[in-house]
Amino acid sequence: MTTREMPLTDERAIDQEDDFLKINAIDHIEFWVGNAKQSVFFWKTWGFKPVAYSGLETGNRRCASWVLEQGQIRFVLSSPYSPHDEMAAHHLLHGDGVKVIAMEVDDVEAAWRETTARGAKSVQAPAEQNDDRGLLRTAAIATYGQTVHQFVDRSDYVGAFKPGYKPLSEDKNVKPVGFAAVDHIVGNVELGKMNYWVNWYHRVMGFRQIVHYDDTVIHTEYSALMSKVMGNGNGRIKFPINEPAEGRKKSQIEEYLDYYTGPGVQHIALITGDIIGTVRELRSRGLEFLRVPQSYYDTLPDRIGPIKEKYDDIAELGILADRDDEGYLLQIFSRPIQDRPTMFMEVIQRRGARGFGVGNFKALFESIEIEQGKRGNL
Ligand code: FE2
Repeated sequence: MTTREMPLTDERAIDQEDDFLKINAIDHIEFWVGNAKQSVFFWKTWGFKPVAYSGLETGNRRCASWVLEQGQIRFVLSSPYSPHDEMAAHHLLHGDGVKVIAMEVDDVEAAWRETTARGAKSVQAPAEQNDDRGLLRTAAIATYGQTVHQFVDRSDYVGAFKPGYKPLSEDKNVKPVGFAAVDHIVGNVELGKMNYWVNWYHRVMGFRQIVHYDDTVIHTEYSALMSKVMGNGNGRIKFPINEPAEGRKKSQIEEYLDYYTGPGVQHIALITGDIIGTVRELRSRGLEFLRVPQSYYDTLPDRIGPIKEKYDDIAELGILADRDDEGYLLQIFSRPIQDRPTMFMEVIQRRGARGFGVGNFKALFESIEIEQGKRGNL
């Protein structure tokens, strides 16, 4: 394993030893999609239960919006009613994708003030909404592409999601598959822009660089990418940032940027405590995951050593394994979850390891390139 820690060198990266932006957790991730009602069924297949709804029936004349939960994870799926809405323009340009990565903070006003003072572009000044379930405070700033970070304080709110959303009765048909929390959310940015955004997260949000993978680590015969992982003060929020690197053929990051029409969220990794059970169930429900060549599994036990899971199960389900100084991790990646080859999902189980599976990057990217070739995009 050849990860390399790189210090920040940009002089704009000012010293921020104190964690001025206290983030408790990812509050929710909102997808702007073409047909939220049908997307709900897709995420039900991933084990997410619909818990709240906003739309024409609740007095929302702008968009239909569904809130789904599993473990501590909350996804919001929204679609506009009017072709003239900003959401419709967003969908025309990007297709389905992540619009909002919302973070739970104690003090929305301070989070917005501190980040905008450090150069963040405001998307929404601090505002309060209330209904009979209490008071919700939010604000928002722009990050890469057209993606937004929202700050949420729901300490005085006990409703299903936000004012304007009605709770839904429990959908007993949905069976959770064991997802507990969001592990990390990865952004793809343009060639040459990785360091800009790494410094942006450092300067504006006080994040630290956890690890750096350069193109000598992440490359195949044909293409390469570079990645730096940014983490917040308490380590709960991890945002890797990728950019394409020059190679003989088109990088998977370039394919994403072409089809998403710019930077955006590449993948969301969800934590499970039992990846064998989770992936077996998801595969039985028809969800599609990438497979590396069977030869990967011939040498896996030698590379990883003893693990609690059975190697036969790992190979049967196409799960990948990686080990670092602190333990090991198991992971698997879905095929793109919409027609455009843009966003995909990762399922991850950590057994001590805190890395991101660098030992799997080469095998994984080769299998991505086989699929890229089938799409005529390599
Ligand atoms: Fe990942």
